[in-house]
Amino acid sequence: MVLELRDICKDYARGKMKVPVLHHIDLSVEEGEYVAIMGPSGSGKTTLMNLIGCLDVPTSGKRILRGEDLDGLSDDRLADLRNREIGFVFQAADLLPGMTALENVALPLTYRGVKKKERLQRAKEMLERVGLGDRLDHKPNQLSGGQCQRVAIARAMVGNPSLLLADEPTGALDTQSGEQVMELFHHLNQEGVTIIMITHSSEVAACAQKTYLIRDGRIQTGGSR
Ligand SMILES: Nc1ncnc2c1ncn2[C@@H]1O[C@H](COP(=O)(O)OP(=O)(O)OP(=O)(O)O)[C@@H](O)[C@H]1O
Ligand SMILES: [Mg+2]
Repeated sequence: MVLELRDICKDYARGKMKVPVLHHIDLSVEEGEYVAIMGPSGSGKTTLMNLIGCLDVPTSGKRILRGEDLDGLSDDRLADLRNREIGFVFQAADLLPGMTALENVALPLTYRGVKKKERLQRAKEMLERVGLGDRLDHKPNQLSGGQCQRVAIARAMVGNPSLLLADEPTGALDTQSGEQVMELFHHLNQEGVTIIMITHSSEVAACAQKTYLIRDGRIQTGGSR
């Protein structure tokens, strides 16, 4: 099992009020699975993704990533685990504007102490894999939205994470760029990468093997397809 969530609850504090957002979520994701999460705006999808990606902590419940109980870990160990095991792709590719595509993709490797020459070599190979081998020196404002999203995917994948998390990766893209991103995810999944993807589009969700529906902070179906 790559990921297990057991009885996860999440409340946000608003002043003195507690706002419950996730209620008793149980979710298991196996090695090599490709899972889509759908649900209305405000239902708690991003909140859930942030908990899975170690960007936030649950109010109660257990998160187990590759057999490790996340809540027992020190901040350093958590940051290290996140850096090694998880790649993140957000709705709008959040690239650093002053850096080239190559530098953006190489960045996560600096946190791991990979030497510069190897960083740039690996970033170049990853950009070639996403079809941007001819755009290495372009800055984000010299790339299309779809190209930026592919750079963001290359950045998420450059450290060979075992789990790719994507929060509406095609939300800001036209149909054709969206299809390219889905094709890329399909290839990565075929190579063994486990993917959890949030989407509003049932067409996009159809690319995954399973779909979970979240409504008002609860998982509604036990996965379909
Ligand atoms: N930091 C926060 N403090 C208080 N409430 C929050 C916070 N972040 C999110 N919320 C609330 O939690 C609920 C779930 O938000 P979340 O971002 O998880 O929704 P979502 O399903 O991702 O929606 P969308 O499809 O619009 O992205 C919303 O009602 C939101 O207002
Ligand atoms: Mg969201």
